[in-house]
Order: sequence, then structure tokens, then C-alpha cells
Amino acid sequence: MQHSVAFGIICLQILFCGACLAGYLEQKYPASVVEDTTLDMVGLTRKYHYPLEAHYVTTQDKYILCVFRLPRPKARPVFLMHGLLDSSITWLLSGPWSALGYYLYDLGYDVWMGNARGNFYSRNHTYYNANVDRSFWRFSWHEIGMYDLPAMIDYILHETGFVKLAYFGHSQGTTSFFVMTSMRPEYNEKITLMSALAPVAYMKNLEAPLMFLLRNFIAISGNAIYEFLPRTDLWRACFRSKMTEDTCFDYVYQIVGRDPKMWNATMAPVYVAHLPSGCNLKQVKHYIQLVDSGRFCQYDYGSAENQKRYNSTKPKEYPLKKITVPVALYYTYNDNLSSYKDVKQLAKELPNVVENCLYPNKRWNHMAIIWSAEARELAHNHMVEVMRKYEPPINQTV
Ligand SMILES: *[C@@H]1O[C@H](CO)[C@@H](O)[C@H](O)[C@H]1NC(C)=O
Ligand SMILES: *[C@@H]1O[C@H](CO)[C@@H](O)[C@H](O)[C@H]1NC(C)=O
Ligand SMILES: *[C@@H]1O[C@H](CO)[C@@H](O)[C@H](O)[C@H]1NC(C)=O
Ligand SMILES: *[C@@H]1O[C@H](CO)[C@@H](O)[C@H](O)[C@H]1NC(C)=O
Repeated sequence: MQHSVAFGIICLQILFCGACLAGYLEQKYPASVVEDTTLDMVGLTRKYHYPLEAHYVTTQDKYILCVFRLPRPKARPVFLMHGLLDSSITWLLSGPWSALGYYLYDLGYDVWMGNARGNFYSRNHTYYNANVDRSFWRFSWHEIGMYDLPAMIDYILHETGFVKLAYFGHSQGTTSFFVMTSMRPEYNEKITLMSALAPVAYMKNLEAPLMFLLRNFIAISGNAIYEFLPRTDLWRACFRSKMTEDTCFDYVYQIVGRDPKMWNATMAPVYVAHLPSGCNLKQVKHYIQLVDSGRFCQYDYGSAENQKRYNSTKPKEYPLKKITVPVALYYTYNDNLSSYKDVKQLAKELPNVVENCLYPNKRWNHMAIIWSAEARELAHNHMVEVMRKYEPPINQTV
């Protein structure tokens, strides 16, 4: 009840009262944090004195993806892939003293950060305009795994001259990886180690209270809505007052798991400003299908269309047996988007799990594993140690 009142107030403020209560953000948070809310990949790296390159990669089906690089030519390439509604910026938001992207660069790696089709940085296509053409929006994470990841990986290997790279994926960045390596198994050979953070494949045990809202939203929207939660300035409404702020944080916790230490609280507005970064509603629908079926399988188009596409009335399962690349699993107890029970099932079925790490901290949630101020000390440096074990000698990789 209290939430719906606060939500109503937020809406009214957006509609009628742009200026009232303004200044809460600036009064409560340090100027540098407020500045970070307005900076994109280019602005953030410039501010913190890191080099950045933007590369454009065209997929087989003609999407033009933006891949960012913290360039360290001749060093081993590491590729980082974000989750649903997120973007490459997730690897930098926590700042140079904490974020995984900067950390890998500081340790001497050539760091590449991908962007999936349809997000804030990858709304480009050879023929379609994302703003007006429905045809742009015909994909799920299946296509991200089938086309985006292979295109970005091939591009990076070609640019750097290496034959393999190390992969870090978060959430959907793991789902799409499992799609790629099961359906296009030749890509197993191009990865030294897959580090899977908050992995998502099976979703039988999902505990997400907002799910029913999402289902209703999808039912009501029919096929009228395809782009889902693109990046906007509406986040500012969260920082009009203490009450609107608490309400927004509460929604965030309901989605990813309650853990006020999942982020550096001083920087909370930075994360809220950059997420969500947009996706296709079909990606969400595909995930809901996994929750309902308990299977890790291709998109369900209904039995007639399935028969045409898959030669079977039910969608096909992804053949996990074909994922031969070494996989390290990193997951948490308090994750409301990736249940540890489901990850345990995944661990049993993947043929080559080399690290199976369920963090003992009972509070850690879906985002703490990348964002939290303690993540470098308690998680990232161990992940790097594991990654190093699978690096071939440098003269064999070039
Ligand atoms: C679209 O791609 C071209 C390169 O092909 C790039 O120059 C341009 O900045 C991209 N636009 C966006 C909005 O990403
Ligand atoms: C379609 O499935 C049937 C029954 O499983 C099988 O006999 C047939 O060979 C399949 N056809 C194709 C084109 O794969
Ligand atoms: C989130 O997941 C935890 C652990 O599975 C569960 O105890 C909790 O009830 C869930 N919270 C919400 C808001 O669904
Ligand atoms: C939290 O963020 C503030 C502001 O950016 C920063 O000064 C501080 O060092 C960070 N704390 C930790 C523990 O990383």
C-alpha cells in the first residue's frame, strides 16, 4: 500500500512537477557520484583516465554491435558479456577501485566488453532502424548466442591475433554463452575458460515476486510492445525525496534479491541511472517460458510453428553435452533471478565444470557478485586466479 502511494507520487511528479523537491540527489550524494550518473562508457573512462576504443561488429544477420575495449595490445584478450537489461557499462560502474573491467585491465589484460543487440549501445542495423522498424525487434537471447557472441568473439580474435580468449558472462551473458557453445560447438575451441557469474539456464526454482506483474504486463501489451525498458531519464524521479528513493530501492531488491550491500551505497544513483538499458520483450518472454517448462530450451512459438521450425511440437532443448569448454560457476544464495538450486542442476549436466563456487555469504544477490564493494577481495581475485590456470603459454596462443 505504502508503495503504491509512493509510486503514485512519483508518477504525479513526473507529470506535473519537474522542479519540485529537485536537489535531493545533489544534496545527498557527492558531486563526483552525481557526475557519474550522466557519463556513458566514453565519459566514465575519460574521467578515470583509462583508454577506451569503440569497435563496431556486424553479425551474420546484419546487426551492428558496439564492443568497447580497454586496449592493451599484445596482452591476452578477456571478453566480458553483460546480463539482461544491462550493458557493457556494468563492468565499470563501481569505479576503478572496485569494478571488474578496470581490475582486469590493471592486471595486464586486453579487456573487451560486448553489447547485445537492442541495448543502449547496440541499436544499429544495416537495414533496419530500431526506432521505427518492427523487423529490428525479432530476437531473443537465442539469437544473441547464435549470432552476437560468435561475431564479437571472431572479431576480437582476428584483431588481436590470439586463437582463444577468456570469457566472463553475467546472467544472460551466461545463458547466451550456453546457447552458442551447445548449438555452435566449434566455439568451444575459441575459449580458454568460461567464468559464469550468476549463471542462468534452468529456472525451475525461480523466486521472483514481481513475476506476476511482468506476466500481466506481457498479457496486456499483447504484441504492441517489443522494446522493453530502454534507457531514459525517468530514474531521476527516484531521487526526488527519501521516500521515492526508498521505494525505488525496494523495487530493485525485489527483482535481484534484498542486499543493501550489493552496491556501494554512496554510488547507488550511478547504478540506477545506467540500468535498465533496454532489451527486447521477447528475451523476457523466453525466460518466462523456461520458468514454466523447467527446461533449458529454444523459444516456444506454439505447436504448429514449432513443428515447422523444430520438426517437433515442443521446442528443442539446448544440448548441454556439447559444451566441452572448461566452465567455472560462481553463484549466490540470495539471488532471485538465478536460484542456486537451478545452478546445481546445471553443474551436474555440464560436462566440464572446473570450479563450482557457491559463495558462503548468505546475503549476496544477483548483482553483488559484480558490483559490491567487497567483490574484488572476496570474489574477483579468486576468479582471476582460476582463469590463469587455463591460460596456455603465450607463445602458443598467438
Ligand atoms: C552505428 O554504426 C556506425 C558504424 O557502422 C557508427 O559509426 C555509429 O556511431 C553507430 N551508431 C550508434 C547509434 O551506435
Ligand atoms: C522429423 O522428425 C521425425 C520424427 O522424429 C523424423 O523421423 C524425421 O527424420 C525428422 N525430419 C527432419 C527433416 O529432420
Ligand atoms: C528471494 O530469494 C530468497 C532465497 O531463495 C527467498 O528466501 C526470498 O523469499 C526471495 N525474495 C523475494 C522477494 O522473492
Ligand atoms: C564508495 O564510493 C565512494 C564514492 O565514489 C568512494 O569514495 C569509496 O571509496 C567507495 N567505497 C568503497 C568501499 O569502495
